[in-house]
Amino acid sequence: METTSIQKETELERSNDLFQVIQNRRSIRKYKPGDIPDVDLKRILEAARLAPSAENGQPWRFILVKEQSTKELLAQPSTQSFISNANIIVVVLGDTSTSCCPSATWTTRDPMIATEHLVLAATALGYGSCWIANYQSRPKKWVDEVKQVLKIPESMHIVVLVALGIPDEYPKPRSRKKLQELSFDEIFGNPMYFH
Ligand SMILES: Cc1cc2nc3c(=O)[nH]c(=O)nc-3n(C[C@H](O)[C@H](O)[C@H](O)COP(=O)(O)O)c2cc1C
Repeated sequence: METTSIQKETELERSNDLFQVIQNRRSIRKYKPGDIPDVDLKRILEAARLAPSAENGQPWRFILVKEQSTKELLAQPSTQSFISNANIIVVVLGDTSTSCCPSATWTTRDPMIATEHLVLAATALGYGSCWIANYQSRPKKWVDEVKQVLKIPESMHIVVLVALGIPDEYPKPRSRKKLQELSFDEIFGNPMYFH
């Protein structure tokens, strides 16, 4: 079926090409109602499961929240109310009880690596997503309530939330620093030239 230009503005096209997926990914903050089929969810989570981690500790856990009242709890008190319209909110947890690396450094960093795998896999399948880290500024009372409602064990901390859903927008790419500002040849500050 031919894709109309209106569809193109709001839809993420499926792609298996990694570089295309990286280019296609946007933070999506508007979602269409609808369900993400289990077959896709499984592939998205599988991509997260395969992420690398320090000493292969895999200190990540994911809770998939679909229940509207729970999504609303996750969205408040916050300026990020759009997340309650996401089809799913993924609550990414860090497991501080893993024997290899209980330090908060890895139990935060490793889950974030897995989260980007998850986000890219979702993009590859045509879904929109948005990292949400601003919950960190929310009161402890909220964190305690979320932990209680989601039955999150004491040894787990919330690393980040990811809104996931069927995109209803496809924003223009946000600007990025130039490669020359970020990468150097042999020593810091030495510009990199590509032949
Ligand atoms: C760790 C992290 C935390 C983020 N937290 C939020 C957030 O709380 N709310 C939000 O709307 N976007 C959040 N974002 C999305 C960024 O704003 C977004 O990635 C950035 O502006 C670049 O836009 P793009 O993702 O569309 O390329 C976050 C992204 C990352 C990686």
